[in-house]
Amino acid sequence: MKVRKAVIPAAGLGTRFLPATKAMAKEMLPIVDKPTIQFIVEEALNSGIEDILIVTGKGKRPIEDHFDANLELEMNLKEKGKNDLLKLVEETTDVNLHFIRQSHPKGLGHAVLQAKAFVGNEPFVVMLGDDLMEDRVPLSKQLIDDYEKTHASTIAVMKVPHEDTSKYGIINPDGQVEKGLYNVNSFVEKPEPEVAPSDLAIIGRYLLTPEIFSILENLAPGAGDEIQLTDAIDTLNKTQRVFAREFKGKRFDVGDKFGFMRTSIEYGLVHPQIKDDLAEFIIELGSELNQKKQGNETTKSKKDTKEK
Ligand code: G1P
Repeated sequence: MKVRKAVIPAAGLGTRFLPATKAMAKEMLPIVDKPTIQFIVEEALNSGIEDILIVTGKGKRPIEDHFDANLELEMNLKEKGKNDLLKLVEETTDVNLHFIRQSHPKGLGHAVLQAKAFVGNEPFVVMLGDDLMEDRVPLSKQLIDDYEKTHASTIAVMKVPHEDTSKYGIINPDGQVEKGLYNVNSFVEKPEPEVAPSDLAIIGRYLLTPEIFSILENLAPGAGDEIQLTDAIDTLNKTQRVFAREFKGKRFDVGDKFGFMRTSIEYGLVHPQIKDDLAEFIIELGSELNQKKQGNETTKSKKDTKEK
């Protein structure tokens, strides 16, 4: 069966970006000039997805407005002959989007469960908004290509530093069936490094068969007292094969402040309108910081000599 549907959970509170996210959806925070959720929607469309469900919550109305027509703005841009901007604004409305609200934030598994009626009896993709992925073939498309060969659920994973395992779902791999495609013994949500079965972390792109829903419906809360998608996948893996696909492209973490800043800079450096100015600015800033650092080191070594 063709994979046509994607689910994007976007009900999280965005506490890592407070106070910015007190009255604004974190998914609307822009990388240069594009809200992060638009990158995710574009990845879905570039992967051949036809229908997208966004699971929202309180305060997420701006996401709906962003992907809706804004006739006043469009007319204004048309009158002023700003056709480039008009194109950018119109582009966002050309998507088959659906919205559902998750009224109680009970975890990622619970958010995905809200998509049951939308998904029906088809395989589907789940895409989390905290990571932007870049590769020759979009990551969701890689998972869809795997599905077309295996007809099985496939979860995207990537090697992370061992000390970071407690931030992710981690797989216990059981050999590769082909290059980069793993059989999996078990999926564990956020294990401490001492007990983590590997450094292969779930990175927020999942191709799932619809059997996941009946598991989610009966699942007890797991780590953090939340209904965990990872736990449901582990159960699914006991009745049908679930593979893990190792992602070899570039992952931009936009889920915390430092990752967000890094991504903004990297995307700014390839943005046609600002890349030259930004590059110049970074070079200047770099040499200023270097001078400061050298200054500090000289003062420190003078102080050290004195103390001796
Ligand atoms: C969620 C999942 C986790 C996964 C991570 C990827 O965790 O529960 O398995 O590794 O996304 O970003 P969260 O980041 O929502 O705590």
